[in-house]
Amino acid sequence: MLRRFTVSMEDSLLDDFDIFIQDHHYHNRSEALRDLIRSRIIEKEWQAEKPVMGVISLVYDHHQHQLQEKVTELQHGFHQQIVSTTHVHMDHNNCLEVIIVRGKAGEVRQLADSLMALRGVRNASLSMSSTGKDLH
Ligand code: NI
Repeated sequence: MLRRFTVSMEDSLLDDFDIFIQDHHYHNRSEALRDLIRSRIIEKEWQAEKPVMGVISLVYDHHQHQLQEKVTELQHGFHQQIVSTTHVHMDHNNCLEVIIVRGKAGEVRQLADSLMALRGVRNASLSMSSTGKDLH
């Protein structure tokens, strides 16, 4: 079943889109937009298989009930993807944990998302880079 929705965009972007539609011989905007969305989603799925190295950093309150245990337990679940973890006691309440990871982009992102979702995690980030092999 097809569903309709409304899209707003700047005039100039829409003009560019219409030129794109002509160049690629689409019959209408909907058809072109569907193809663009599909290709973007496939690209993301493909990237999930890509080998990467990355750094996850977390700031959390170690007084939060069982948070420290959960952070550790999650990491044991991903021990094959974790190269090293450094824990810094920032002040009386806060801990900084920096986790160096290596694995498929999808796995690394899953670990980062799970850690970020824990209650008491104040700040979290993931940065990914291709593995050395892919860097020429
Ligand atoms: Ni600490």
